[in-house]
Amino acid sequence: MVAPVKKICCIGAGYVGGPTCAVIALKCPQIEVTIVDLNKARIDAWNSPDYQLPIYEPGLLEVVRQARGRNLFFSTDVDAAIEAADLIFVSVNTPTKKSGVGAGYAADLAYVESATRRIADVATRSKIVVEKSTVPCRTAESMRTILEANSKPNCRFDILSNPEFLAEGTAIDDLFAPDRVLIGSLQTPEGVAACEALASVYANWVPRERILTVGLWSSELSKLAANAMLAQRISSINSLSALCENTGANVEELAHAMGRDTRIGPKFLRASVGFGGSCFQKDILNLVYISESVHLPEVAAYWRQVVEMNEYQKHRFAKTVVDTLFNTITNKTIAVLGFAFKADTGDTRESPAIALVRSFLLESAKVTIYDPKVPHEQIWLDLSETLPDWPIEKIQKSVTIAPSALEAAKKSEAIVIATEWKEFREIDWKVIYDTMKKPAFVFDGRLILDAPKLREIGFRVKQIGRPE
Ligand code: NAD
Ligand code: UGA
Repeated sequence: MVAPVKKICCIGAGYVGGPTCAVIALKCPQIEVTIVDLNKARIDAWNSPDYQLPIYEPGLLEVVRQARGRNLFFSTDVDAAIEAADLIFVSVNTPTKKSGVGAGYAADLAYVESATRRIADVATRSKIVVEKSTVPCRTAESMRTILEANSKPNCRFDILSNPEFLAEGTAIDDLFAPDRVLIGSLQTPEGVAACEALASVYANWVPRERILTVGLWSSELSKLAANAMLAQRISSINSLSALCENTGANVEELAHAMGRDTRIGPKFLRASVGFGGSCFQKDILNLVYISESVHLPEVAAYWRQVVEMNEYQKHRFAKTVVDTLFNTITNKTIAVLGFAFKADTGDTRESPAIALVRSFLLESAKVTIYDPKVPHEQIWLDLSETLPDWPIEKIQKSVTIAPSALEAAKKSEAIVIATEWKEFREIDWKVIYDTMKKPAFVFDGRLILDAPKLREIGFRVKQIGRPE
């Protein structure tokens, strides 16, 4: 008989820890959930009286409104929450390493390790420790070694892998009705019991048949593999979009025709200016690194190509803009609509929009940017990071952040759709056309616009993977 989990601590109040554990609190009113973070500003935002939460995610506000103060708490007191908890999620960031061994490929596990060491230092009784972060295969083994080497007498730690599959923008729907919950454990009696304790938490709202239990290493690797497979579909369709543009085929017709084959399926075949987000590139590079570390260079090369195709797609799109605008964009104004890496999020990590704006600035263009959710400071930060040799004053001379799509488009030579925000479909394109310089160009990097209608207005339109 497994003791039910009564108190949960989540280390890391980010895009995963925040929504995931807020939903656990909502669905399990009998469990006290405390989400902790070292970043005080982030915790203050989660606790803000007027609910100015640190991340934008449809439906999240309602979840937090219902659970916060009832059985959901946000705190910077990491130690107190660790000590009180029966089960601890480690949901910290695992970015690509910037220096040292594996730089540019391997996952930086410094945050996972420091959270693990904190657990070992603080805990005075046994705990279940759950890897929620996306980590390389066999990270649980390192965590166990650290925990066991530093634990107090009579303290045992059972380690589980429980990767998260939510996508930003649909996180709450994904958490309410996940395709599956994956839990990996050691196949020992203690490991299986810990697995059951966590499965019982999810079983409060997830049907049992959707809770998959597997071995630890399969669980860890499944997460990297799932992201690699998803990203591979996008790179595949994007490679075909280049072929379409050169043969007169239409990539949407292609995706539709392929997707009707039930073995292929219709999802994740939207051609785009390239995939972004904090994880696809990072997780594939991690997979490449792991493959190389176990001496499988062909496997590494296969997956590396998915990232290379993505870089190619961003570069190809930026080049199309320059080529179409008569081979020069010097001093021309390009309006970039959308800066987030996808719609319905304010997250800009690895957003293709950053790469596009960078290319335009290097071609001496002026850029106006409009995004309905991304904070202006974030845009300045991203541009400073992508152009480290440019002082911020130089960037701000060439870039304007506009309060609306209409303002961004005024007096511009071209509009670039970088994010598929719904409002861009609903704009009055005739009004926009009248404010622009002529000929007025639209480059649709997300295939969201009605090209024939825009052409009727007078626009010259280029879309990814579609004939003109
Ligand atoms: P994030 O950067 O938004 O949040 C991580 C948080 O952890 C930060 O607020 C940071 O301050 C905090 N933190 C780091 N070290 C800490 C420590 N020792 N103690 C307390 N707090 C600490 O990252 P995220 O997007 O939530 O991603 C977290 C993990 O989940 C990553 O491994 C990522 O790959 C994975 N993941 C992310 C998504 C996604 O959609 N963003 C989806 C699935 C999986
Ligand atoms: C992705 C996965 O979908 C999640 O399952 C996973 O948990 C998460 O990564 C993670 O590990 O972080 P996310 O990056 O939030 O989720 O969003 P996606 O919907 O996967 O989109 C990623 C990028 O691919 C976006 O830039 C999106 O615009 C692009 N995309 C997506 C396409 O270009 N075409 C598509 O058909 C789908």
